[in-house]
Amino acid sequence: MKIGNVKLEGNLILAPMAGITNLPFRLLCKKYGADLVYSEMINLNALSRNNKATEKLCLTCKEEKPVAFQLFGLREDAIKKSVEKIEDNADIIDFNFGCPAHQIVGAGSGSALLKRPEKVGKIIATLVKHSSKPVTAKIRLGYDKDISVKLAKIIEDNGASAIAIHARTYKQGFSGKADWDAIAKVKEEINIPVIGNGDILNGMHTKKLLEKCDAVMIGRGAIGDPMLFSRIKTFLDKNEVVRMPSLDEKINLFLEYYKTAKKYDLVNVHTLKQRSQEFTKGLRGSTVIRKELNKISSEEKLVKYMKSLL
Ligand SMILES: Cc1cc2nc3c(=O)[nH]c(=O)nc-3n(C[C@H](O)[C@H](O)[C@H](O)COP(=O)(O)O)c2cc1C
Repeated sequence: MKIGNVKLEGNLILAPMAGITNLPFRLLCKKYGADLVYSEMINLNALSRNNKATEKLCLTCKEEKPVAFQLFGLREDAIKKSVEKIEDNADIIDFNFGCPAHQIVGAGSGSALLKRPEKVGKIIATLVKHSSKPVTAKIRLGYDKDISVKLAKIIEDNGASAIAIHARTYKQGFSGKADWDAIAKVKEEINIPVIGNGDILNGMHTKKLLEKCDAVMIGRGAIGDPMLFSRIKTFLDKNEVVRMPSLDEKINLFLEYYKTAKKYDLVNVHTLKQRSQEFTKGLRGSTVIRKELNKISSEEKLVKYMKSLL
């Protein structure tokens, strides 16, 4: 599959997730089979103003390629500078038209843009004009009703190279089931690749959704479980269901995450603790582990405790 001039080896994609898909996490997903990884959403205005914390979200390395960097915001006049700043690192530039967070929607960006299809078109056109890299859009089905076909046509007409659809409206939040048939309807109407997203947790889900679109994008299923991508690949290739990772495998993944985070100066105790809880969730003894992790407040003690579980 190709997105613009970017060739993907397969069609499994890591979704953009704020607070989760930083460089160390993306590298793990890549290692275990993600064919394309998306960054956390990056504030367009902050990036254009050279905000240091925002610039840190734009780190990459050659092992994770290809990578898509996702921008969010509203101001078309900030797009040119932001694109200039990420273009060297990004293989693809994505725009967020789906974030449901109150402060984002309240400021008129993310899901609020789903109410303004014309503005969606202008943002895509401006991105395409200023970027030498393929531009993609990530949408929900609509704000309070499904207008995804209309949005997708506008996005295609303004020059985007692919579209990712989280098959829920803004109003649905994360409730109910993602409507994969709505993704199929969009696929029938446009010619650029359609990436389906929402509720993919295993190989069977992936197989079903791939009957309706070109690629699948996986979010929550990969949190604490980057090996999900390799299990899905095995299922698609050999129709085999692979066992879940063991505690040792999960701890080693966490330690690998930590090592890369250290290398790129991305360690922060709060997120490291969050990661340690995600990587040990659902395993035998995880309630006890969670209680112990809750008592720990330093990086050294956290890593020492995680190593002691091996
Ligand atoms: C913690 C979290 C953070 C997210 N951050 C973003 C984001 O930065 N940009 C975005 O487009 N979507 C974001 N999403 C939405 C996901 O990309 C995805 O569309 C959604 O979770 C549905 O897919 P899933 O069922 O595979 O999780 C986020 C979701 C979660 C759970």
